[in-house]
Amino acid sequence: MPTSLMFFTLISCLLALGQASLPLVINTWSFKNATAAAWAVLQSGGSVLDAVEAGCDCCQKEQCDGSVGYGGSPDESGETTLDAMIMNGNTMEVGAVADLRRIKNAIGVARAVMERTEHTMLVAESATVFAENMGFIAEDLTTVKSLNIFTQWLKGNCQPNYRKNVCPNPSESCPPYKPQGKLGPKKHLPTNIHSHDTIGMIAFDQYGHVAAGTSTNGRTHKVPGRVGDSPIVGAGAYADSSAGAAAATGDGDIMMRFLPSYLAVELMRAGTDPSAACKMAISRIKRHYVGFFGAIICANTTGHYGAACNKVPGFLQFHYMVSNGESDEPLLKSVDCF
Ligand code: GLY
Repeated sequence: MPTSLMFFTLISCLLALGQASLPLVINTWSFKNATAAAWAVLQSGGSVLDAVEAGCDCCQKEQCDGSVGYGGSPDESGETTLDAMIMNGNTMEVGAVADLRRIKNAIGVARAVMERTEHTMLVAESATVFAENMGFIAEDLTTVKSLNIFTQWLKGNCQPNYRKNVCPNPSESCPPYKPQGKLGPKKHLPTNIHSHDTIGMIAFDQYGHVAAGTSTNGRTHKVPGRVGDSPIVGAGAYADSSAGAAAATGDGDIMMRFLPSYLAVELMRAGTDPSAACKMAISRIKRHYVGFFGAIICANTTGHYGAACNKVPGFLQFHYMVSNGESDEPLLKSVDCF
């Protein structure tokens, strides 16, 4: 092979693998301010946990896409509830909150669970009490927008909803429901792919220490008490400083059944490159749920990264953000879904 062709091939391979450089911040969707917030923390000497917390909290405050933070995804009773988690890839400690009520900073409470208890996850009203004890302020998470979504839903006979095998017929009527004797065919409500659903973030420092985190308000009109994939270790995110990290976004009710973030990290540990690991995690879900909505970001300890998504109508490309010093600004990246 001529030298120029060998050089070209080498460059192409490097580009295909993604630029490898540490430190690195990578997060789902085009949530640029979140990336910038996390990167700024790393640049000022903060830890990877500080970076992930700051990045996710930025989205919580900005109510990214309406699907992170307060005032989004009202449940069947009109309330916004939050799921979040944070994982320390050095110690394998995790803190998570699920169905958190009346506290805006879900990722902050998740970190408090990790650092101020021996537990991994707290849920619902008890998580709120814990948060208040830790100094977080309880307040109503309802906004004019979330109230309006809820009111319109009630006016439209509570359509769509996530109920099945109940009476009265959930495709025509509002709660309350009772179980229906006979189980009907499988039903799956498509996720609104325009409401991007979760921030999942990975941060590596220059030494390869990694943390990952997530924050979301879940799914609009969810059954009260519903918890998605985001606070579930190995589903919403996973981090291990000896292998890499991954974070997922999409239809959590399906994705959490496959622990895609854990799978991707284990594949990277075995030497699979991040893009291929992401793809394999998506493929595993696809085998059972061909039309599911979801995507995942992956990064290994050398700073290589990648992403993958499941191609469904209206979702052909997945966008994510990267900061690794290549540019002053976070870079918007995309991957074609398959
Ligand atoms: N992926 C977020 C959720 O399903 O709750």
